Amino acid sequence: MHKPTPPRLSIFGAGKLGQTLAHLWQAKGCVTIGQVVCQHIKSAKDAVAFIGAGNATTPENRPAGCDIWLLSCPDQVLPEAARWIAQQPLHGGQVVFHCAGSLNHTALEPAQPAQLASVHPVHAFSAPSDAIHTLAGSYCVAEGSDTAKSLLKPLFTALECQWLELDARSQDAKALYHAATVSASNHLVTLIDQALRLAEFAGLSRTQAAELLRPLATQNLDKTLQGPADAVLTGPVSRGDTRTLAAHFSALAHSEVPMGDQQLYRQLAESTLAIARHQGDNAEARLTEIQQLIDKQLSLLNARK
Ligand SMILES: NC(=O)c1ccc[n+]([C@@H]2O[C@H](COP(=O)([O-])OP(=O)(O)OC[C@H]3O[C@@H](n4cnc5c(N)ncnc54)[C@H](OP(=O)(O)O)[C@@H]3O)[C@@H](O)[C@H]2O)c1
Repeated sequence: MHKPTPPRLSIFGAGKLGQTLAHLWQAKGCVTIGQVVCQHIKSAKDAVAFIGAGNATTPENRPAGCDIWLLSCPDQVLPEAARWIAQQPLHGGQVVFHCAGSLNHTALEPAQPAQLASVHPVHAFSAPSDAIHTLAGSYCVAEGSDTAKSLLKPLFTALECQWLELDARSQDAKALYHAATVSASNHLVTLIDQALRLAEFAGLSRTQAAELLRPLATQNLDKTLQGPADAVLTGPVSRGDTRTLAAHFSALAHSEVPMGDQQLYRQLAESTLAIARHQGDNAEARLTEIQQLIDKQLSLLNARK
């Protein structure tokens, strides 16, 4: 049977992510490689060497025709990159996509009438020589034109990535999706680090604190991912235990715990109270007392600024 000709893929910004995807697709015969554009010609030549194919070039030269443009330059360069590729007239049979987590396909509007999309691999791309071994299994979150998604999906699933579509027609929806990934990764690091440091202020070593908190943290992480949060929540705020929460605020104020940590603890208690309000067994009067305590703590912290 006649094998279909693989699409021709060009890359604008062949850094960590661009090199990784292009190398894997080229090695599997999913695409042929066209232009490989970097800011500096040396980077472009190094990228071509790693990918194993392609024509190294820079934006001082003109774009050439291809079926798919991967724009994997820094996020702020995307509109400029879309304008650069549009010097070669684009048509509705071509696909132009980027991989930024916080921007949707509209960042590429200068490349219309090509089919526009974004596909965000939820993966930390380190050196491409490592990332080619670690990418499989990662989620790739796509939004944009249906035609673009139907062409790109087989390319990502060929790399054993998991394909998930997000209905992010508005830029805000994509930014909120990205904020979710930041909360689950970066903010989780901040929160666990705060818990470890509070335990250190109480006199435990970092190692002891980690051993003590690991089962609590991992069990609650797993349970909350299964949800709902109000079925998982325990502790003083959930119980409406004002005396214990007041003791925490007082100990924080009398310690050397930095002000930022004290503010975070208060803010998280308030967010925890919002979940506790969904727990049917909580008397409203007790939760109102907790809210009053949290409000008083805010006034005290503001006065100490
Ligand atoms: N890294 C990750 O873990 C990760 C994860 C998910 C999504 N992403 C997204 O993937 C995209 C690429 O990220 P990355 O980490 O792979 O970036 P990177 O390693 O910093 O590579 C950026 C590439 O863009 C080129 N470039 C920069 N400015 C340019 C310009 N004005 N004109 C032409 N080329 C230019 C650079 O060329 P030179 O080397 O010559 O300067 C380099 O090849 C971003 O949208 C990012 O949000 C990244």
